[in-house]
Parts: sequence; structure tokens; C-alpha cells
Amino acid sequence: MLKEKIQELARQVHPEVVGYRRHLHANPELSFEEYNTSAFVKATLDKLGVPWSPMANTGVVGLIKGEKPSDAVIALRADMDALPIKEANEVPYRSKQVGVMHACGHDAHTSSLLGVAAILQQLRSEFGGTVKLIFQPAEEKIPGGAAQMIKEGVLGSPKPMAVLGQHVMPSLPAGKVGVRPGKFMASSDELYITITGKGGHGAQPQQNIDPIVIASQIILSLQQIVSRAANPKTPTVLSFGKVIANGATNIIPDEVYIEGTFRTMDESWRREAHGRMKKMAEGIAESMGATCDFKILHGYPFLINEEKTTARFRECAAQYLGQEHVEDIDIWMAAEDFAYYSHQADACFYMLGVGNDVKGITSSLHTPTFDLDEDALEIGVGLMAFVALCFLDE
Ligand code: NI
Repeated sequence: MLKEKIQELARQVHPEVVGYRRHLHANPELSFEEYNTSAFVKATLDKLGVPWSPMANTGVVGLIKGEKPSDAVIALRADMDALPIKEANEVPYRSKQVGVMHACGHDAHTSSLLGVAAILQQLRSEFGGTVKLIFQPAEEKIPGGAAQMIKEGVLGSPKPMAVLGQHVMPSLPAGKVGVRPGKFMASSDELYITITGKGGHGAQPQQNIDPIVIASQIILSLQQIVSRAANPKTPTVLSFGKVIANGATNIIPDEVYIEGTFRTMDESWRREAHGRMKKMAEGIAESMGATCDFKILHGYPFLINEEKTTARFRECAAQYLGQEHVEDIDIWMAAEDFAYYSHQADACFYMLGVGNDVKGITSSLHTPTFDLDEDALEIGVGLMAFVALCFLDE
């Protein structure tokens, strides 16, 4: 049975996968700067005898061809970059780069895909078709490595029938996998707003144009785009995380600077909301004698899990893990550049449980104490290898 074979191989490669993961965790690199990570991936693929080609500067695409006749192609994607976070974990594999940390588990994604490569390379005589291994740079930073990989032809020949991506999720216990068909993650845009008035003495407001009062009005009014203009069926979030008004108790400043994020799950509403927000902010500023510079940095689109591909993933995952370990999960307003693949090809992005209350592994993604239960990587690696062959076998 293929399943038992893959389980056994996943057990065998597990120590190596953990070794890869710890090496990458200790040596994290920021988005678009994954030079050593890329070299490590290439060297490991060389060792495994898997042919690869470079793409998008630090990206790598490997190909494993089964020996049975078939034109089917499935793509598996891992991201490689780390975050500008100072690690707070006291572990032997703690980050050696101060202020840089694999706090989103991309070390696990890259090492897991290498583990999958090791398994599938050994099973070549047992399957037909091609597995495309996508190691992409810069998931964490706009414009995102996925867009660049697509531009350079990663979804071209051989053209995959589907792209699958696995992401670690600490809120899901190790041993489980979570998936959701349809719209799953949000589009994300960055907002940069500068309101310019006229500063002066706090005792003489009549001589000034107070940008703080105007900014307050703008922040509150913009929430009505979410509560009044958005269709209640379309998830929409607007949050501001930075407001700088550098006056004093008795000084009204000249300007206020604001940064925020806008997230939703509908491209036409996204465009409409951009226009409405800008118009509202500029209109309020103007009506009060100030000016408003409203910049929008377009991030990733929403992520959609194609229905049939996701149903197929569920079937294959249930065969490997048992139905009771495959969970339905809710939409998630975080953003992922895997979304770009999901708009260009049939795709499924699923979550691998890596949390473990007993071991005290509970920290969220993007925190200085994020870690994962490495035992879950054996499950994740075996699952991904099995699902890939399950798709090729269809
Ligand atoms: Ni991530």
C-alpha cells in the first residue's frame, strides 16, 4: 500500500526534516534576500538527485517525474522568507540573526517540501506524472514573491492541474489539518494618509487649522465604509495602527500621519472601497480647510480555494490522516501571496496543525515566541507527499 510506504518514508526522513528546519530557523533571511536559504534548497535537491532551476532571483523550482506514463502535473508550494522580529525563544536552534526570525513557519514549509522531495524521489517507480516543487521568495512583503514567480512562468510548462500550499497553524493541534473551500483569506492593502493643516498655539485654535481634530473625524468616518457601504455578506476590515501627531499640550502640529490596513474578499468591492475612502478623507479635510494625501499600497488579492480541488484535497487528506483529523476552518482575514496562484490556477491552501498545549506550544504566528511541534512535520510531510500522488492518480 502506498499510504503505508509514505508513512514509513515520512518517519525515515523526519530527523532530516527537523535538521533542515532547525538550520533554516537558526539562519533566517528577510524577504527577497533569501540567498543562503536558496543555496541550501539547491544543495539539498542536488543531494537528493532532484533537478531544479532558479527563478525570481532566490526562488527554486524542482521537478520530480514519476516513471509510469502520465502527463499529469501537480505543483506544491513552500515560501522561504522570515520576518523582522527579534526571537524570544530560548531554544538550541534560536535565530542567529538578531532581529530576524522565522515567526511564520516558513522554515517548516521549506524543510517540509524538501522532505516531500526526498520521499517522492524514492517513489518514482511507483507513480506517473510530474510533481513541481515551488520554493518561492518573499511571501511576507509586498509585492510578494508569488507574483514574480508567476510572471517568470512558474505555472507554465509543465502546467500544473492544481497548486497546493501548506501553512503551519498553531491554533490547530498537531495531528490535524484544516481546510476551507471557496474564499478563505483576505486581500490586504496598506493605507498611508497625511493630513496637513496649520499648526500654532493651542490657546488660539481660531488661527490654526487643527489636523488632529480633522484626522479624528476622518478615522471615525472611514469606519462607516465598513459598517454602511460594505455588503454585510462581504467580510471587510479597516484598522489603523499608527497615528502620529507630534505637537504638545499647547502646540497644535501642522500635520498628522496615519497608517492602516484595508482587507476584504471581493475584488470589485475592494476597488470601490479604495475610491470611497479616498474621497471621504479628502472631502472631510477640504471641508475643514486642510488637505489630505491618501496613498494606497496595493497588496495581495483575496485567496480562493477552488471547490473541486479542495474537495479532492479533503478526500486525499482523509485517506491519509483519517476523516476525524481533517477539520473545517473559518475564513481568516490575514493575507497570503499564495492568493496569486489561486487566481491563476486551481488551488488549495490548507493549514497544518502544529500547536501542542501539553508541550506549551501555543504562541501565535508573527510573535517573538512562535514555535511549532516538530512532530507535526512528519505528518505534514507524509500528507503532502500522499496528497500529491493522490492528485496525480486521479
Ligand atoms: Ni506565512
